Amino acid sequence: MLTYPPEPFRIKMTEPIHLISPKEREAALKEAGYNLFAIKAEDIFIDLLTDSGTGAMSQEQWAAIMRGDASYAGARSFHRLKAAVGDIFGFKHFVPAHQGRAAENILSACLVKPGMYVPSNMHFDTTDANIRARGGRPTNLVIDEAFDPANPYPFKGNMDIAKLKAFIEKVGAQNIPFGMVTVTNNAGGGQPVSIENLKAIADTYHAYKIPFFIDAARYAENCFFIKQREKGYEKKSPIEIARQMFSLADGMCMSAKKDAIVNIGGLLCMNDETLFQNVKNELILREGFPTYGGLAGRDLDAMAVGLYEGLDEAYLAYRIAQTAYLTGRLNEAGIPTIQPAGGHAVYVDAHAVLPHIPQQEFPAQALCVELYREGAVRGVEIGSVMFAYSDPDTGQMVYPKLELLRLAIPRRTYTRSHMDYVADSLTNIKSRAAKIKGYKFTYAPELLRHFTARFESL
Ligand code: F0G
Repeated sequence: MLTYPPEPFRIKMTEPIHLISPKEREAALKEAGYNLFAIKAEDIFIDLLTDSGTGAMSQEQWAAIMRGDASYAGARSFHRLKAAVGDIFGFKHFVPAHQGRAAENILSACLVKPGMYVPSNMHFDTTDANIRARGGRPTNLVIDEAFDPANPYPFKGNMDIAKLKAFIEKVGAQNIPFGMVTVTNNAGGGQPVSIENLKAIADTYHAYKIPFFIDAARYAENCFFIKQREKGYEKKSPIEIARQMFSLADGMCMSAKKDAIVNIGGLLCMNDETLFQNVKNELILREGFPTYGGLAGRDLDAMAVGLYEGLDEAYLAYRIAQTAYLTGRLNEAGIPTIQPAGGHAVYVDAHAVLPHIPQQEFPAQALCVELYREGAVRGVEIGSVMFAYSDPDTGQMVYPKLELLRLAIPRRTYTRSHMDYVADSLTNIKSRAAKIKGYKFTYAPELLRHFTARFESL
């Protein structure tokens, strides 16, 4: 029997959720143009749209909120956050930002010039768009195993070092303002990157004098996978692994809304002094003074506490096992997902569930809509709606290799019976899969279109 460790917390406050009728769901879908981003949260029963900013804060975080210092400059909250950031990440400089994409924007504004390339294992959508918005070209160089959903390779977030070297030689190191890696690899299934690979990535970038930045949104989950799966790390604590991981890099962007378990917040860290000066100037223009970066003092304090809670071993053991549990329940029902289970989400292989829907008709979007129809469960499409783009050189549409329905699990929020309900809902869809139809756009902007696109059923 599938199971996972009991939650290492008990519940002190509740938030009601309601299941609306099938007829009401159909009306909600129609009004939203079949885009689940446009559905009202109150019309959703289990919300697995994202694990970002949706976690439940702890009593220590709520207590920290009360200590928040709203001073414009030099707030106590900033200095408490600075101590935590220095302790865990160890970079020389940092600024807070209101969330991950703000940090990406500042970094891109300071370093990316039109025509430049930024390699990574896989960029997430906002990173990809922030680089493109400055005329840059984000490039994904993850290992091939990442594109084979059934392959159980333990570090499918790893970068292909041979491809990375060949890429740098081809475009020239002078055209790469910085290189990245995303831990865990969200766009490729929440899969971890090993320390061995991180060392090789760092060595490669550094051999070409390219600064190395980590997209650290899910750093703690990545560290726990290293502990579980990488030889020599079994006895190390997640925080020790984190310190080693970040010592390899020159900086990082981070959305604190994931592993730091806060509702809002982000970080941009770096060692380079000149970059830090430029970042501060850009930050003042767009986010706020460098000791608050677009956040209230209380947000900084909640983050300072959450950074440590996200690294707690008992919490991570429960967290990772909960995701594996939902993955296992779906696989038992014959629903293929990316293997092995990711950290923060289950990634259903929509190609495999709806093989009759071609990519241009958005199979993952169709599955997403159907899951809402079935159980008022909201997931998110990670496929052609999010990632297909028109190649700037050829004008041809380029489609992603994977069509996924991501079920992201908010931290410390849902219980096992909620996971069972989601598994049962998807299982019910399976029997009528052959009848499910694809979609076409009725509205689609060029960048980040998945947020606002509208669709029509074919
Ligand atoms: N990097 C990664 C790997 C992410 O997953 C996200 C956000 C960001 C950066 C941007 O951070 O939202 O704080 O601005 N991912 C969310 C998700 C939205 O649902 O996966 P943000």
